[in-house]
Amino acid sequence: MTYRYGLIGWPVAHSLSPPMQNAGFKAAGIDAEYSLVEVAPEMMDKVIPEMKTKFAGWNCTIPHKQHIIKFLDELDETAKILGSVNTVVNLNGHFKGFSTDGYGMEMSIKESFNANIKGNSLLFLGAGGAAKAVALYFAILGAKRIGILNRTVEKAIELKNEIQKINSIIEVEYDDMSAKNIDTSKYEILIQCTSVGLKAGDPTPVEMNIIHKHHKVVDMIYKRTEFLKMAEAKGCQTADGVGMLLFQGVRAWEIWTGKKAPVEAMRASLNDALRQREMGIK
Ligand code: ATR
Repeated sequence: MTYRYGLIGWPVAHSLSPPMQNAGFKAAGIDAEYSLVEVAPEMMDKVIPEMKTKFAGWNCTIPHKQHIIKFLDELDETAKILGSVNTVVNLNGHFKGFSTDGYGMEMSIKESFNANIKGNSLLFLGAGGAAKAVALYFAILGAKRIGILNRTVEKAIELKNEIQKINSIIEVEYDDMSAKNIDTSKYEILIQCTSVGLKAGDPTPVEMNIIHKHHKVVDMIYKRTEFLKMAEAKGCQTADGVGMLLFQGVRAWEIWTGKKAPVEAMRASLNDALRQREMGIK
């Protein structure tokens, strides 16, 4: 029997998860297939109960990461705290939800910079859904200090409050993108979570004078953004968003199979898919 896995979202057409996950199954000799499942929000009530007999597990993306929770029987501790789910395993009809995005960023930072989150100082650019999933997870891990810069300051304040609800001893500060009221030099790691840089020709989301040479800079966007290029020119160590994408998928794969993931096979396939996309083949 072929085990079926997939990504549910709306839209999902541009996802790189199928080649990555399928390469993992192939390398491990598991008879399984991962596909894209486009589900409009109004179809969730019909589609999700049907997954009980059709899918062994799935990933969940925008706009379903919160809405999916009402269909689940159990949540992993992190998903419960975050109130967000990106991975579901179907255990004989019992749905358990997880959130692996924060883990993905944690592992990417570990691999790229050999740095830990616990006790560290991290500055987030952006306060949207992606920033929130990672910042709250880092609060759980015991970061020492989190800074949030966001164009809309009210959203930065909301995130600050949520972080402090999870971890009351963490130091949290916020500002708009000018960072006029924050000494950015006290941070070790900068995490770019805004959508600025997705489109060719996009500027950097912040003035580069707030970036210092000792910063380790990671961008959630999958390519070398203008921001990463400028940080590199300043002498910073940098990483793009591919590592986070890889490791959130690796964790999901391990939740589904109970095995250690063939990380290098998944990475190679992901890089291949990215290259094809850049060349306009897919
Ligand atoms: P995601 O789920 O990818 O995080 P999102 O929740 O829509 O998407 O968040 C997008 C983030 O990019 C937000 O932090 C947003 O800032 P605002 O809260 O002020 O909207 C940020 N962003 C988008 N366009 C931006 C721009 N031109 N300049 C600065 N920040 C921008």
